[in-house]
Amino acid sequence: MYNKVLLSVCSSVLCVAHTLLIGSHQPIVALVGDDVLLPCHLEPPLDVTTLSVEWRRGPALVHVYRSRGDDPASQDQNFKGRTSLFQDEMTRGNISLKLTDVTEQDAGNYTCSVPKLQRSYVTLVVEPQPGRERGFYATFIIIIAAIAVIVLVVIGACLKNKKIGKSQISPLFIS
Ligand SMILES: *[C@@H]1O[C@H](CO)[C@@H](O)[C@H](O)[C@H]1NC(C)=O
Ligand SMILES: *[C@@H]1O[C@H](CO)[C@@H](O)[C@H](O)[C@H]1NC(C)=O
Repeated sequence: MYNKVLLSVCSSVLCVAHTLLIGSHQPIVALVGDDVLLPCHLEPPLDVTTLSVEWRRGPALVHVYRSRGDDPASQDQNFKGRTSLFQDEMTRGNISLKLTDVTEQDAGNYTCSVPKLQRSYVTLVVEPQPGRERGFYATFIIIIAAIAVIVLVVIGACLKNKKIGKSQISPLFIS
C-alpha cells in the first residue's frame, strides 16, 4: 500500500531527486524457528554506511545502526542477538534485515527506515512448523492459563487495596 503511494507520488518530476526505500508488497512468510530476510533497499542505490538505519516493529526498535556500527543498547529485548544487517550490501543501499530463530511473536508489520531519507514497510507472517503445531497449541494454552492466573492475582490485590485504602484515596482519584 505505502509503496504504491510513494511510487505514484514520485512519478511527478519533483521526486526524481529523491531516493526511494523499497520494502515488500508481499508479506514475507517464515516458519517458526527459521531464519528470515526482511527485504528493504534504496533506489537508486546509495551508500548508507555513514547514515543511521532503523528497523522497527510498531514502536519497538528491532535493529539500530548508527555511527558505522550496530547499536544493540537501544534494541528491544525480544530481538537481542537475533538481528543483523549486511554491511557489504549497505554500501549499495540494501538495508535488508536478517532475523534468526523466528517466533510467533515476531509476526507483524516492520518499518525499515533511513531516518534522514525514507521509510518503508514489510509484513512478516509467521507460521508454525508442520508437526510442531501441537507443541504450539500446548504452549498457547499454558500462556493463556498463566495470564488468567496473573489477572486473577492482580484483581485480588486490587480489591484488597481498595478495601484497605478507600478512606485514603483522594476524591480526584475516584472521579
Ligand atoms: C540485499 O541483500 C540480501 C542479503 O545479501 C540479498 O539476499 C538481497 O537479494 C539483496 N537485495 C537487493 C535488492 O540487492
Ligand atoms: C499490518 O498492516 C496491514 C496493512 O497495512 C494491516 O491490515 C494489518 O492489520 C497490520 N498488522 C498488524 C499486526 O498490525
